[in-house]
Amino acid sequence: MTVHDTMIPDLRSILADSDLFREAALINGGWIVRADMPVTNPATGGVMGHMPDCTADETTAAIAAAEEAMKGWRARTHADRADMLMRWYQLMLDHADDLAQILTAEQGKPLAEAKGEVMYGASFVRWFAEEARRINGHIIPSPVAGKKIFAMKEPVGVCAIITPWNFPIAMITRKVAPGLAAGCTMVVKPSDFTPYSALALAVLAERAGIPAGVLNILTGRPEVIGATLTASSVVRKLSFTGSTRVGALLAEQCAPTLKKMSLELGGNAPLIVFDDADLHVAVEGAMLSKFRNGGQTCVCANRILVQSGIHDAFVRALAARVDALNVGPGTAEDTMIGPMINDAAIAKINAHVDDALSKGASRATTARDLGAQYADPVVLIGATPDMRLATEETFGPVAPIFKFETEAEALELANGTPFGLAAYFFTTDMARAFRFGEGLEAGLVGLNTGAVSHAEAPFGGVKTSGLGREGAQEGIDEYLETKAFHFGGLDA
Ligand code: SIN
Repeated sequence: MTVHDTMIPDLRSILADSDLFREAALINGGWIVRADMPVTNPATGGVMGHMPDCTADETTAAIAAAEEAMKGWRARTHADRADMLMRWYQLMLDHADDLAQILTAEQGKPLAEAKGEVMYGASFVRWFAEEARRINGHIIPSPVAGKKIFAMKEPVGVCAIITPWNFPIAMITRKVAPGLAAGCTMVVKPSDFTPYSALALAVLAERAGIPAGVLNILTGRPEVIGATLTASSVVRKLSFTGSTRVGALLAEQCAPTLKKMSLELGGNAPLIVFDDADLHVAVEGAMLSKFRNGGQTCVCANRILVQSGIHDAFVRALAARVDALNVGPGTAEDTMIGPMINDAAIAKINAHVDDALSKGASRATTARDLGAQYADPVVLIGATPDMRLATEETFGPVAPIFKFETEAEALELANGTPFGLAAYFFTTDMARAFRFGEGLEAGLVGLNTGAVSHAEAPFGGVKTSGLGREGAQEGIDEYLETKAFHFGGLDA
């Protein structure tokens, strides 16, 4: 038992609605309760519960249930599906505190941030409930007489959804809500580190009236479930958020059945601060982009490029903010950075810092000894392209500062990566804003802001950061096919 075990009460006892905490999987409306695998609370390193390790047969049963359920689900009116999604949205708001407690217990982020994720996750349900009523086709003028041509939008089919541990709620709703709105049915595989938020969402979906088989949740190890989902010819679409390595593997597995795919993969986001930036805006933007979720997001700034004229002032201001970050269990009121997800994550973060220090970087922040579950938030100055943190995603609270002289040099450094998810830059020169923004190779660009994630805006990457877009109007297209319906014989 660590010191934090004594500080964190049993999860069920603190939930207003303890029924939301399910140690189970959900197939065709049936809850399968088995304690095959433990789930760890990252703040304590202790076991917080168990879950079934779903088999290939169970995965096949979930796919069959989704296929059967789709007949009724796609036949409903769009308004009916929208109403059900709006009920689900409202239930998420009603149970936001409990959802946040579950999320913090399994993922580690501070409670206030977990609540923020619940609201962010709910915003996708609301947005796609609204979009469900606007799935319009169009009429094409026919090139021949006596014919009408309609482009009709239809649901793509049964969808497999594989989600990561860093946003256990929002990454599910961002995929499931547009799919359900479009008339698709879902087999969801949440991360084996964070299954309970997905299961709580499924309880609320049931209460919202979403019928059995429309939303299935499979818990357990990814290999067997993933292989069965990708091999199935019934599954017509796969949406995945995670690493580029796994995304490429899934694409390979999906190739024989040619599924539609959305892949939101790794990043190596640059954040560029020009001499003419507003210092306060740049520091606040860097804090938001770099330290959200303890640095564990695909869109976190991984490399901070600072022009020489503002470098020292920026480093001083950023280091002061980072030194003031409280690190601790997510349930403690003053915590700003929670534990990292697991030992492997901490080992990688420490390896990146050690590698940078050994190659000439130095700390601009005061080193802290925080205990085994935590990573020390750090600003490193003197970062160079030969360091691991220049080319690999650190996924932790490490802010390496690279000094540059010219705009051309900054653009070359920023784009000098196979990834292209997010990029941020700070300038008050509007000509540069357009010029530089257009030059950045990224699916998401933040100018004078560290936030690029909203349900209303398209989210996704270029290069090896993925395929497709989530959120926005584009997000629902990923779950639709276009049928060209040629209506002849009208000239009689
Ligand atoms: C991610 O890290 O994959 C998603 C982050 C976000 O939605 O902002």
